[in-house]
Amino acid sequence: MSRLPLVAGNWKMNKTVPESLELAAAIRAGAPGQSGEVEVVLLPPFTSLWPVAERLEDSGIVLGAQDIYWEAAGAYTGEVSPTMVAGWCRYALIGHSERRRLFGETDEAVNRKVHAALAHGLRPMVAVGESLEENEAGETETVLTRQVTAAVAGLDEEQGLELVVAYEPVWAIGTGRTATPEHAEASCGLIRRLLAGALGASIAQSVRILYGGSVTAESSASQMAQPNVDGALVGGASLVAEDFLAIVRAATTAEASAI
Ligand code: PGA
Repeated sequence: MSRLPLVAGNWKMNKTVPESLELAAAIRAGAPGQSGEVEVVLLPPFTSLWPVAERLEDSGIVLGAQDIYWEAAGAYTGEVSPTMVAGWCRYALIGHSERRRLFGETDEAVNRKVHAALAHGLRPMVAVGESLEENEAGETETVLTRQVTAAVAGLDEEQGLELVVAYEPVWAIGTGRTATPEHAEASCGLIRRLLAGALGASIAQSVRILYGGSVTAESSASQMAQPNVDGALVGGASLVAEDFLAIVRAATTAEASAI
């Protein structure tokens, strides 16, 4: 089964509105447009979503929110609801390790956000991954099993089709230490088997599973050439248009060579 490769740029807490517009314009200028070969997703900070959406109109590039809260509205100071971003975003990134580690987000909160995203027409992009200590203790499989199972709890098959999962080992994020293609493939393959157990084999075959963690144009080509790696979630390299575009191009090449 061929899955449309997806390359997402997570800008994290970077870029003012003018800086966001400049970066979005540079990415738009070099992106493959509506080629149908790769889906390009940008995740700017909340403050830039609206202006960037205008700048990307009719470009084929789509937006995602870096997080959402699970309530639609109410007294939750500082939070952003799915209804506030649904007009501009196709995706919502949920459960990024920085949210889990720095802001105490639990597996249960991740699951609530997944359901909230779906209820408001957003596709959940769920991030999972083991820490360095867990990796060194041989606990990668246990951690991924716990995180994936919790994230998709209560989803039906139709909702499962909306899902994207990003495998991001915490030890690889922002460290310059990217996973080998073999490690990325082993973990993404495990995630697909877990999805098959939870949602059924045919749903699992159509879910895109991305690799994230110090992705560069050089590393991404061999990672994305793996059968279970369908794209990349890019942090640092997504802040430089040329670096990000090189990864987008690598995704189309990896897809072509996998066919
Ligand atoms: P990085 O971040 O590419 O800077 O390692 C990836 C991520 O956190 O999504």
